Amino acid sequence: MASNEFVVTPWEVRGRVDYRKLIEEFGTQEITDELMAEIRSLTGDLPLFLRRRYFFSHRDLDLVLKDYREGRGFFLYTGRGPSGPMHIGHIVPFYFTKWLQDRFKVNLYIQITDDEKFLFKRNLSYSDVKKYSYDNILDIIAVGFDPDRTFIFENMEYPKIYEIAVQIAKKVTFSTARAVFGFDTQANIGMIFFPAMQAAPTMLERRRCLIPCGIDQDPYWRIQRDIAEKLGYYKAAAIHSKFMPALTGPEGKMSASERETAVFLTDPPESIEGKLIKYAFTGGQPTAKLQRERGGNPEICTVFKWLEIFFEEDDNNLRERYLKCINGEVLCGECKLYLAEKISNFLEKHQEKREEAKEMVRVFKYEGKLAKEKWQEAGVKPIV
Ligand code: TYM
Repeated sequence: MASNEFVVTPWEVRGRVDYRKLIEEFGTQEITDELMAEIRSLTGDLPLFLRRRYFFSHRDLDLVLKDYREGRGFFLYTGRGPSGPMHIGHIVPFYFTKWLQDRFKVNLYIQITDDEKFLFKRNLSYSDVKKYSYDNILDIIAVGFDPDRTFIFENMEYPKIYEIAVQIAKKVTFSTARAVFGFDTQANIGMIFFPAMQAAPTMLERRRCLIPCGIDQDPYWRIQRDIAEKLGYYKAAAIHSKFMPALTGPEGKMSASERETAVFLTDPPESIEGKLIKYAFTGGQPTAKLQRERGGNPEICTVFKWLEIFFEEDDNNLRERYLKCINGEVLCGECKLYLAEKISNFLEKHQEKREEAKEMVRVFKYEGKLAKEKWQEAGVKPIV
């Protein structure tokens, strides 16, 4: 692969991603200063995910805000594929989703694609997937969503999704699915149907649906947008993030299947310092002397990027660290320790909330206001 090439699909992110080019390739829109100003005027503030342009691209976000202003409202939808323990890159879209739910006070649907991971991952058994679904739901609940406005469901449990998915599937040809997802004749037939399952939650309400997610998930929304209006629903709107870079370097993304590239939400907080010292890629010079003379490069530094994306809330602190780095006033070891402390503190709190979440699983899946409504509407009782 040439140095300027990259690949972004729902299953793979390879190379150094050029996000401007991706906007062109995918046919999405950049989040402009005007749109940000509008969000600020509606919510009173902007989270760092938007201020720092980690969420950088969208589809129909302007129409979502218009619907909100004019009283039609909208709902949120996001999800997780339970193929293993969650890492920090997976949880960031959920924090942004929480911010959106807190500010706009809207319903949120969280899809757990147990079917997807069973179908796509050769080595995952049905029971592995069920176990990861439960574990991942704990991490998601720990983010702190509104229990009355949030419904978490697993595809293999909540039958309404299948009912909507068959209506979608009937309108999507194999040739479209192949062109969008690159399926070949070796794909099992479940994989070919699956895009309809991921598109289905956009039709859980007859209002516009806004999906916060990594930009790797956009191909699903393209399929949905082709057929939604034929079925009497709105085209899905989306707000896309970049990728949290791997601990080990700026190419690709943090990935659960390559353990040294990621910090997992269940990692012991005291192990983080060692992990960062051992694996974190920085933009530093080979020696402290050269670093002091020439300065480092925060643009390619994972430590700086993680601070920028999630761990350094304070804009002034971030700017100061940037300047100190390029002026050679700070060494990489120092930045690693600073980030390690931030991550450890975050994990400590997260893991406490994760314990408490065990008591809340039934609420988010069955008993909260929205969950109860959706089960009643589906006309079936959950099997618990
Ligand atoms: P999954 O479980 O691979 O990822 C969950 C969410 O995390 C994002 N993501 C990342 N974001 C930043 N940096 C990374 N390194 C990184 N890795 C993953 C993903 O884009 C996603 O937003 N098929 C989906 C599950 C799903 C879904 C949805 C996701 C079902 N419905 C609706 C988003 C929206 C999946 O396997 O995601």
